[in-house]
Amino acid sequence: MKRIAVLTSGGDSPGMNAALRAIAKLAAGQGLQVFGSLEGYDGLIDGRFRELTKVLSDGAVSVDIEVDVAGGQGGTLIGSARSARFRDAAGRAQAKVQLEKLGAEGLIVIGGNGSLTGAHLFAHEQGVKVMGIPGSIDNDIGCTSTSLGVDTALNTIVEACDRIADTARAHRRAFVVEVMGRDCGYLAMAGAIAMAADAVLIRESGKTEAQLVEDVRAVIKNGFARGKRRILIIKAEGVNVPCTRLVRLTEERMREELPTLEIRATVLGHVVRGGNPSYQDRHVAGRLGFGAVSALLGGFSDE
Ligand code: F6P
Repeated sequence: MKRIAVLTSGGDSPGMNAALRAIAKLAAGQGLQVFGSLEGYDGLIDGRFRELTKVLSDGAVSVDIEVDVAGGQGGTLIGSARSARFRDAAGRAQAKVQLEKLGAEGLIVIGGNGSLTGAHLFAHEQGVKVMGIPGSIDNDIGCTSTSLGVDTALNTIVEACDRIADTARAHRRAFVVEVMGRDCGYLAMAGAIAMAADAVLIRESGKTEAQLVEDVRAVIKNGFARGKRRILIIKAEGVNVPCTRLVRLTEERMREELPTLEIRATVLGHVVRGGNPSYQDRHVAGRLGFGAVSALLGGFSDE
């Protein structure tokens, strides 16, 4: 084996670059060249690659300097995308042709559940050797306790909520803070525990809008009655009621019992997805990168 390819796919997550760096370093150490497919599976289908290693004049392989530097940064150096074309068998067949043209004998896919489902299909249908690295802030990937990016995202959530709590206490206010996670309530739940939040609202609980308003009302009423100055409610993105609507409905519902009540809504959005990876995400990226390269060299696929 002389060449392998790697791609990042789906929503980026902090730690993807750290994984690319680890893969490039470990592969280079084994004399392997690594090519990054630009913008996920789309780059694979189109044959758009960027080398993440370089061959020195004495034939040794080393890591590209930009890849080395990017290892400590958020986002992904080789871009990411959600490829519609890779969902079709024709797109996957074309991707195999491009890998063969490149001379790559293995592919590492870093991404979330949709991207890894695509990787699994690619390996079985096209007979390509594929290894997957779970990378998604959503933490919704099977058989994975903590995917790449989750630790950094949670640190960002905690930092943001600490700031919100400062201003909430100053004004004796309630806040509903929405965090990403698509349909999965993990970030909201783990963030709420770390913040000792007053409540967490997740899609998985299956509550109706009216039930959510009643729950939020009870939490706010009890909290202020106990003398609290900050009421923090963390809401997962997957809960189908927009933050501002939930706040408006709750204020209307409580107008008579707490006429001076002020609730504010903050949607953290993509702030949660950016930022330099934490120690844990870099560490895990290194280990998973090592595992993926070693597995391909050992002849494994789709494990
Ligand atoms: O899957 C990662 C994620 O950040 C989800 O939490 C979120 O629902 C989605 O991607 C947002 O996607 P986009 O960046 O395309 O708006």
